[in-house]
Amino acid sequence: MRTHRIAVIPGDGIGPEVVREGVKVLEAAAVRAGMFRLEFDWLPWNCSYYRRHGRMMPADGIEQLRTYDGIYLGAVGDPSVPDHVSVWQLILPIRKAFQQYVNLRPAKLLAGLESPLRHKEARDLDFVIVRENTEGEYSDIGGRLHPGTPVEMAVQTSVFTRYGIERVARYALSLARRRRGHVAVATKSNGLAHTMPYWDEVIRSCRVEFPDVDVSFYHVDALSTLFVLRPETLDVVLATNLFGDILSDLGAAVVGGLGVAPAGNINPEKRFPSMFEPVHGSAPDIAGKGIANPIAAIWSGAMMLEHLGHPEPAAEVVRAIEQVLAEGRVWTRDLGGTASTEEVGDAVVRALEHPR
Ligand code: NAI
Ligand code: MG
Repeated sequence: MRTHRIAVIPGDGIGPEVVREGVKVLEAAAVRAGMFRLEFDWLPWNCSYYRRHGRMMPADGIEQLRTYDGIYLGAVGDPSVPDHVSVWQLILPIRKAFQQYVNLRPAKLLAGLESPLRHKEARDLDFVIVRENTEGEYSDIGGRLHPGTPVEMAVQTSVFTRYGIERVARYALSLARRRRGHVAVATKSNGLAHTMPYWDEVIRSCRVEFPDVDVSFYHVDALSTLFVLRPETLDVVLATNLFGDILSDLGAAVVGGLGVAPAGNINPEKRFPSMFEPVHGSAPDIAGKGIANPIAAIWSGAMMLEHLGHPEPAAEVVRAIEQVLAEGRVWTRDLGGTASTEEVGDAVVRALEHPR
């Protein structure tokens, strides 16, 4: 029987609380499927590690991670450490080193949940955001000049490469081919007059390989209104690193909030491990109370199963989540319920074992 080795990075705040439930559900799913084993190694790389060692992960952290089949992350971030440190020293190096150039964020209204958008139902809310995850606006190129003086200034340069745009565009186009055949591209070629026309041009050049896929370009500000007013027109949304980051929180909001929004940082060629994590952060405001919603983390785990080549067990986990949500009894506070993080994890395991 095949064994998948998974590196678990629980992280900070509610990260460890939600990841514990995710691992519980994944273990149950593996036992039920009986076709593969999961072996979890827990890596304590987070902000307390930073306070002790002056870095978010060991110097050979990336080398250690390279040997795994997948990475399962909670969230990092603590008020005692600047957010750019926790993100730039842990999450971004992993995304870049392992060429996880697709950040995949499904925005799908699960059975049992209601959208905050009036009159929108599950059939109106089922799209996927493909966010470029290795370059664009989140580049390390920049700096500060004359710090602490009246003429202090800062620059940060966006980087768009043909290679980087082509690979994420091809991913989005082929994903659309397997879905409803439509890609909405987020651009801003009116305001960002160098990078965004190039982004559009390279995507147009890839599109000829996918004549059966319909592609529309929207300025990102206009596209954000579609998320709210006509989400049923969306199938695959392709966006740059920054625009995709913002749009995916909006996408999460219209399908039930951050507590139920999953994400995968994917290396489609599977040359390197991919990393799965909820969209949300470490939520210091509710950490330690046992009230965080673990569904985003559990669903992210299901995406990991699918990536590892187990689509049926992955679908079963999502179905079990929907069963729990539809029953409406074991909901955490963000959804209007009173259940604890652990109670939701246990309920999903039960639903997995007793499908309705
Ligand atoms: P956040 O996502 O942690 O929290 C935003 C709001 O949503 C809070 O009110 C929080 O209580 C609520 N929330 C988030 N997840 C929830 C869940 N599972 N169940 C119930 N409620 C939930 O974003 P915020 O506050 O901007 O950032 C907090 C920290 O997290 C910062 O240090 C930030 O840098 C870090 N962060 C880390 C990310 C990552 O590790 N990938 C992503 C986003 C933020
Ligand atoms: Mg974000």
